[in-house]
Amino acid sequence: MARFPDALNEQIGREFAASQQYVAIAVHYDRETLPQLAAHFYRQAVEERNHAMMIVQYLLDADHEVQIPGVEAPQTIFSDAVAPVALALEQERRVTEQISELAALARNEGDLVGEQFLHWFLQEQREEVASMSALLAVVERASASNLLLVEEYLARTGAAAGEAAIEATAPPTAGGAL
Ligand SMILES: [Fe+2]
Ligand SMILES: [Fe+2]
Repeated sequence: MARFPDALNEQIGREFAASQQYVAIAVHYDRETLPQLAAHFYRQAVEERNHAMMIVQYLLDADHEVQIPGVEAPQTIFSDAVAPVALALEQERRVTEQISELAALARNEGDLVGEQFLHWFLQEQREEVASMSALLAVVERASASNLLLVEEYLARTGAAAGEAAIEATAPPTAGGAL
C-alpha cells in the first residue's frame, strides 16, 4: 500500500499551517505600521494557501482521497521585529526538508508522476529560502538603526525576478490560484 498519498495529505495541513503563520506575521507588522512587511507576508500567506490547493488538485487528478487537515494556532507574539522573519526562514527550511522527503518517498514507491509533481515545489522552496534569507539579513541590519529601511527594500525589490519565472510553471490549483 503506497504511503505517498497520505503523506501528501499531511503536507496539505502543513501548507495551510504555514499560511496561517504568515497571516499572523502580517498582522503583527500591520499593527506595528510597517505596511510593506505586512503586505509581503499577507502575500506569502496566499501563496502557501495556493500550495495547499495545488496538492488538492493533484490528489483529485490522481483519484486519491483528499483530506483537509486541521492546523495548530500560529505564533502571534514576537519579541522584536527580527523574530517573525527568523521564524519564517526556519519554517521555509523545514518545508524544504519535508518536500524533499516526499519526493524521495514517491521515488521509492516508484511513483514517478508524483515525484515529478514535487519538482516545482523544490524549485519554489529554493527561491523562498533564498529570498527569506535575504530579507532576514536586511531586517537584522536595519533593526539596529531604522526599520523603515526594510520598508524601502521591499518597496524597491518587490517580488524577486526569479519568482515570476517559477510562478509561470506552477501546477494547477484546485478552484484556481488566488
Ligand atoms: Fe509552501
Ligand atoms: Fe513557503
